[in-house]
Amino acid sequence: MTQTQTRARTGRIVSGRSDLIVAANFVQAARDMGYISVSSAIAELVDNSIQAAATRITISISRPDESAFPHIEIEDNGVGMDATVLATCLQFGGSTRFGDRTSLGRFGVGLPAASLSQSRRVEVRSWRPDSPRLVVDLDLDSVTAGASPNFTAISDPVISIPATPSGTRVTWTACDRIEYKRLRWLERSLRRDLGRIFRDFIQAGVTLIVGTEEVTPNDPLMREMVVQEARPTMPMSDLIYEFAHGDQGCTSTVTVTFVELPVDPWSLLDSKEKRSLGIIGGAGVSVMRAGREISTGWLFMGDKRKENYDDWWRCEIRFDPELDDLFGISNTKQGIRPSQHLLELLSMDIEPIARLLNSRVRQSFEAAKFAAAASNACRAAAAAESVLPILPGPDTTARPLTYALRSEPRAGDAMFSADREGDVLTVTVDRDHAAFAALYGPLQGMDSDDGKRLRKAVELLILSFARTAIGPGASESHGGFLKDWSNVYAKMVQHL
Ligand SMILES: Nc1ncnc2c1ncn2[C@@H]1O[C@H](COP(=O)(O)OP(=O)(O)O)[C@@H](O)[C@H]1O
Ligand SMILES: [Mg+2]
Repeated sequence: MTQTQTRARTGRIVSGRSDLIVAANFVQAARDMGYISVSSAIAELVDNSIQAAATRITISISRPDESAFPHIEIEDNGVGMDATVLATCLQFGGSTRFGDRTSLGRFGVGLPAASLSQSRRVEVRSWRPDSPRLVVDLDLDSVTAGASPNFTAISDPVISIPATPSGTRVTWTACDRIEYKRLRWLERSLRRDLGRIFRDFIQAGVTLIVGTEEVTPNDPLMREMVVQEARPTMPMSDLIYEFAHGDQGCTSTVTVTFVELPVDPWSLLDSKEKRSLGIIGGAGVSVMRAGREISTGWLFMGDKRKENYDDWWRCEIRFDPELDDLFGISNTKQGIRPSQHLLELLSMDIEPIARLLNSRVRQSFEAAKFAAAASNACRAAAAAESVLPILPGPDTTARPLTYALRSEPRAGDAMFSADREGDVLTVTVDRDHAAFAALYGPLQGMDSDDGKRLRKAVELLILSFARTAIGPGASESHGGFLKDWSNVYAKMVQHL
């Protein structure tokens, strides 16, 4: 006797022994089919609405009374369903696109499984210009008690006239799996998650509303974010891979995009702001399937571990459902299990890029820290301008100078370079020059007042040298002089 048959004998049989599924037990088990959050369950319904060509999707959450479980309702203005489709939509495996590899839906379990993962009862209403409003439902408690699920679509007894010519409304009553006490917090976290998962669709014009507020697109790569006049940049062009699928010689591409966040000036924001903008804790890869986020995390990084610096660069991988097998898509669309082939191929490129971007971030942080500490010396130098002869500028204006002192790996011959632009003299110290380690190694470790004073004195030495080098007394060959001197100094510090 097979296990199914045994269960069929001992379980409450709903539709006879020959059924593969014992409905009374299955609906219970289906509750734990793998939706890890209310956001991912609702995302399934949003997928369906988008596939039904909806342009406006509204999610409302309420509680009939204070101690009751919440109700969630999601309504769209999509094409709606006729009686036949409606009768299958709550069936596990019921789908008008089963096995389809062109868009969001594919498995035919999204609607019933996502609904039961959160609630004890789901009702689906749908209307079209050519048919009256119809309704079907699935009630966990009555199926568990042995009643046969009846998916015949009936005319909707609820009297409220739909505002759109066609559409669908899914209602989850008794959402007993939702732990939020405050529904406003649930709404906020839904807006954040759905804004991220559906960012492409929202940007393309789909209106998604949670409660009374519209969901804004939430791009983990922060491409459109401008803060303090700075925005993320792309360090390289996209990596594009082509994979064969099926046996017709068809191919489909995987696109990998990287961005770097502007450490200067965003690192100077306070941590609350960094957190609320999504800078802190946003490290990793966002995987987009058919323009919808399906996974996020520290993926394809080989042996590289995540560090705090990795918050400052981001990666996005895009692919189409034809490559589902390669990415290992599960039916809950909440993660990927990439094939070994894909894992090795992508990690081979992504891991070294991750290491490179990490080290660039580290350097930017060091440079930002350096510039912040050097601003003391710059202020002191500017204060001395009042007692120094004014240097005429290139445009023959004559105003006191201000100073900027920066550091950069340059691997040049000179210890620093001096560039005047308008009234600003920017001095860039070469981090790769032997003198940098010799001087700044000890100076950066000195936190005492004496140490800070010494650093300032050394920096004033550099700034004064730079000012003199661009002054009228300097010869045309001051660049050569600076290099020669830097060279001699480098030789000497080797004998420190
Ligand atoms: N909001 C909706 N508008 C129109 N049709 C829908 C909607 N939601 C579900 N459906 C129909 O119900 C079927 C089952 O949905 P689902 O269980 O999510 O499976 P899948 O999306 O994989 O087909 C879909 O194939 C579709 O025909
Ligand atoms: Mg679906």
